[in-house]
Amino acid sequence: MPAQIITNPDLEKMVDTSDEWIVSRTGIRERRKLEDGLSSVDLSERAAREALKRAALEPSDLDLIVVATVTPDYPTPSSSCLLQARLQAYRAAAMDISAGCTGFIYALTVAHQFICSGVYRNALVVGVEILTRITDWEDRSTCVLFGDGAGAVVLQATGEDRGILNFSLKADGRGADLLIVPAGGSAMPASPETLQNRMHYLKMNGNEIFKFAVRVVEETLYELMERENFKADDFDFLFLHQANLRIIEHIRKRLKLPQEKVPVNIDRFGNMSSATIPIAIHEEILAGRLKEGALVAMVAFGAGLTWGGMLVKW
Ligand code: ACO
Repeated sequence: MPAQIITNPDLEKMVDTSDEWIVSRTGIRERRKLEDGLSSVDLSERAAREALKRAALEPSDLDLIVVATVTPDYPTPSSSCLLQARLQAYRAAAMDISAGCTGFIYALTVAHQFICSGVYRNALVVGVEILTRITDWEDRSTCVLFGDGAGAVVLQATGEDRGILNFSLKADGRGADLLIVPAGGSAMPASPETLQNRMHYLKMNGNEIFKFAVRVVEETLYELMERENFKADDFDFLFLHQANLRIIEHIRKRLKLPQEKVPVNIDRFGNMSSATIPIAIHEEILAGRLKEGALVAMVAFGAGLTWGGMLVKW
């Protein structure tokens, strides 16, 4: 996490909003902002080095680096190539995944396929977002929601009876306009007009995304539970994408899960897109609650539209 904190009272000084509105509508109390001069590769490197240390691997052991992000350092080259160079992991293939807030689950699934096929043994998967750089700080409907962060995991081939049990990846491009940065790509290249019209910032139809999220999170969970013959009660942890506390609480109550099984960090970090779930996982590991053998479900949704889930025996 970056060190700088932006609180709701800080935002009250920037736009017409209130701590009360933000907390009651979203559950967010504060979020982090990466300091000027640093970029997504800086935060990715910190997360990646810590994950490698915990896995007792050297960067040279990596066969693959997959970075999930919608805020890469550059349109090209990829953030994964920049990270590969930082780590000096020169043996590793490197690619970025752009799947909005579902990016981490998409990236994990891609790495998982390479490991299952026997092609690679060690993969690094990073979810990183510097959303404060694409946030319109004059738009109260979005600037209260987002924050910066990075999380990383190492996936390894194992003969043990654990790991990724099942996954579901979905997309519906008909919803592309619901969450979009209109300018800066080939459709609307940067120009003085796009800058003046603030088109380089994230635009979101919050109400439609909210309805979509509530529907697809539940559908994805039931699909995965059915495939693996689990009940919600069997989960030790359900890591949900943290876009709105009301969405998280709605799903938790529908599944009748206790609060301790559905970790929340949106109150402290806001929505960090593809960094949200790996950071929540990291917090549970640090707290000593997420242990080997735990049954873990994750579900995310986001721009694209995309959504997906995964079941893991830790
Ligand atoms: N402070 C005060 N008032 C505000 C603010 C604010 N920050 N933002 C909006 N309002 C006002 C609106 O202008 C509106 O006023 P009006 O009634 O006078 O028109 C009123 O509050 C209600 O606005 P709504 O948009 O209806 O508020 P809602 O309760 O739907 O909450 C929110 C908005 C929080 C954005 C919600 O819709 C949401 O969380 N949606 C899901 C977002 C999401 O999941 N995004 C994830 C995608 S993540 C990714 O891929 C990056």
